[in-house]
Amino acid sequence: MQVRDHWFMAASLAVLTLGAANTMAEERTGREVAEKICVTCHVSGKDGAPKIGDVAAWTQHSKKGLAKLTESAIAGIGKMPAHAGQPDLSDLELSRAIAFMVSFGKAVDPKKPYASPSSMTGEQLVQSHCVNCHEDGKAGAPRIDDFTAWKPRLQNGMNGLVRSAISGHKAMPARAGMAQLSDTDLRNAVTYMIVQSATYKPRN
Ligand code: HEC
Ligand code: HEC
Repeated sequence: MQVRDHWFMAASLAVLTLGAANTMAEERTGREVAEKICVTCHVSGKDGAPKIGDVAAWTQHSKKGLAKLTESAIAGIGKMPAHAGQPDLSDLELSRAIAFMVSFGKAVDPKKPYASPSSMTGEQLVQSHCVNCHEDGKAGAPRIDDFTAWKPRLQNGMNGLVRSAISGHKAMPARAGMAQLSDTDLRNAVTYMIVQSATYKPRN
C-alpha cells in the first residue's frame, strides 16, 4: 500500500460521504414506498398478493431468498406487475419496500436510525458475518485486506457499494443474505470494510 492510496482514500471518502446524504435522501424509504404503492394489492391480498403483516405468507415467499424476491418484483410474477407497475421506482426503493414487507417494518432506512435486534456495530457485523466470504475472497469477494480489489469498485462511490450490499451484486447475496439487516447496518459494515482495506498493515 502506498501513501498515495491513503490520500486517495481519505479524499474519496470525504467526497462520497458528503454526496451520500443527498442522493440517498431522494430515494424513498421502504415504508414510504410500501404505504404509497404496494398497499394497493398487499393489504387486501388482491389476486393472491401476500398481505403485509401475514407472517406465514411472507415466510413462505421469503424461503426463496431476498435476491429472488427482488428479481420477481422487478420482472413481475403472476398477477404482480413488473416494478409494481411503477417504472419510476428505483431498484433500491423496490428492494427497501420488499425488506420492509418481509420484515414487518423492521428493516427500515437510513433516515430513521434503527438498532437491529442484535445492535451490532459495523465491525461486529463484518467480523461475525461478512468475513465468511470477504476474508478469503470466496466466489470472488473483494478481500478485507485488499484495497487494490476495492479501489475500482469505489468508482461507483460509497453509495454504489452500499446499494450493491442492499440489493445484491453477482455472487454477493442481497443484504448479505440477512433480511433483518437495516440499510444503516449495511452502510456501517461497508464503511468498516473499506476503511480496514485502506489502512491494513500485514503483521510480521
Ligand atoms: C397490482 C397489484 C400489486 C401491486 C401494486 C404490488 N404487488 Fe406485489 N404481488 C402482487 C401479487 C398478485 C403477488 C403474488 C404473485 C404470485 O406469487 O403469483 C405479489 C407478490 C409479491 C412478491 C413475492 C414475489 C415472489 O417471488 O414470491 C413481492 C416481493 C412483492 N409482491 C413486492 C411488491 C412490492 C415491493 C410492491 C410495491 C412497490 C408491490 N409488490 C406492489 C400484486 C401486487
Ligand atoms: C456468501 C458470501 C458473501 C457474504 C456473506 C458477504 N459477501 Fe459481499 N460479496 C460477495 C461476493 C462474491 C462479492 C463480489 C461480487 C461481484 O463480483 O461484484 C461481494 C462484493 C461485495 C461488495 C462490492 C459490491 C460492488 O458493487 O462492487 C460489497 C460492498 C459487499 N460485498 C459488502 C458486504 C457486506 C457489508 C457483507 C456483510 C454484511 C457481505 N458483503 C457479506 C460475497 C459475500
